[in-house]
Amino acid sequence: SRTVRRDADGVVTVGGLAVTALAEEFGTPAYFLDEEDFRARCRAWKDAFGADADVFYAGKAFLSRAIVRWLNEEGLNLDVCSGGELATALAAGMPAERIALHGNNKSTEEITRAVEVGVGRIVLDSFQEIVRVAHIAEKLGKRQPVQIRVTVGVEAHTHEFIATAHEDQKFGIALAGGQAAEAVRRALKLDGLELIGIHSHIGSQIFDMAGFEVSARRVVQLLAEVRDEHGVELPEIDLGGGLGIAYTSDDDPREPHEIAKALGDIVTRECEAAGLRVPRLSVEPGRAIVGPTAFTLYEVGTVKELEGLRTYVSVDGGMSDNIRTALYDAEYSVALVSRASDAEPMLSRVVGKHCESGDIVVRDAFLPGDVAPGDLLAVPATGAYCRSMANNYNHALRPPVVAVKDGAARVIVRRETEEDLLRLDVG
Ligand code: LLP
Repeated sequence: SRTVRRDADGVVTVGGLAVTALAEEFGTPAYFLDEEDFRARCRAWKDAFGADADVFYAGKAFLSRAIVRWLNEEGLNLDVCSGGELATALAAGMPAERIALHGNNKSTEEITRAVEVGVGRIVLDSFQEIVRVAHIAEKLGKRQPVQIRVTVGVEAHTHEFIATAHEDQKFGIALAGGQAAEAVRRALKLDGLELIGIHSHIGSQIFDMAGFEVSARRVVQLLAEVRDEHGVELPEIDLGGGLGIAYTSDDDPREPHEIAKALGDIVTRECEAAGLRVPRLSVEPGRAIVGPTAFTLYEVGTVKELEGLRTYVSVDGGMSDNIRTALYDAEYSVALVSRASDAEPMLSRVVGKHCESGDIVVRDAFLPGDVAPGDLLAVPATGAYCRSMANNYNHALRPPVVAVKDGAARVIVRRETEEDLLRLDVG
């Protein structure tokens, strides 16, 4: 980010704080998150989409009470996809009407709580759920605003596990074969539901605008069909999240204003052509807001040079704090940040301390040939889907998240302790 510098000794400083001092105070591994950068990205999304649209931050990327407060202050809404995320949102004071509840298999308890507290929308993901949410709302004497999540049938060019708009996967209801139209028909008949719109999320870590544009066009086409069949113009559409970020210098991400313009233009044009009022637009960026705002700081332990192959540089974390490399073949960069080095770069693999060889943080990186135990390495762009997917494999203690702002650092999620680990064991 803008505030990263190297001092005369080669020590990297972040917002004026030396990483060596940060490691001393907070330990390693740890995630350091730039609060101003987070807020600036929230504002960039808000400004790009303007007053006629809503930005729902996707809490799955990373959620904590502090994050919820910042979102609230910056005027963003929040997308949650579980009872746990909902509880965090409510505990930190996010107004229920600014919360959207997602999930392909919401439990009765999750739906009941969401309806009771009055979330702004529940995004319906299946035919069964249409009925389930309607019954719960009716029982509670409420009419729940809902959107229907559709799969528009585009191939998003991203890893299979994070692509969601092709038909052969678990999310949403297909536009194809008139299924989404049938879902609308059923939802409109139920007293417990107020159908406010259609939702489409095509996948994650996407750079190509074409998929978003096809998605927008197909969702508007559905709105036109709904108008023709029922005489109802649904007032909202949500086009999901998914905008990619730069993990390495090969990635060339789009800016919020670019996606806002692309989506806004398509929706307006298609609505005009169909004679529809332009619906209120919303989006759900997660990674693009929080991803670039944090880095992980590790301390180097064992270094193993395998002649003719590469050097294995072990750090004090691994797949418990960043499972993305193992799971998606994700690429990251890494830098020696605690000192300068003129040593010849060596082909390195940064690995963790877990008991399996898939425990890789950075698959291929050139690090100075004199990297040694006690050095600090930083892996940038770990704000999204790292702490939120962190786990206790090998009884690792999940690292803290430390917010850095105005030359000061404070813990917003503390490091786990052995007591935390043992607390759940019974007997
Ligand atoms: N909206 C919906 C309905 C979603 O399912 C998701 C992500 C988002 C918004 C936010 O997408 P984003 O803007 O963050 O790309 N664990 C994977 C990513 C899974 C994304 C799941 N859904 C990873 O680490 O890449």
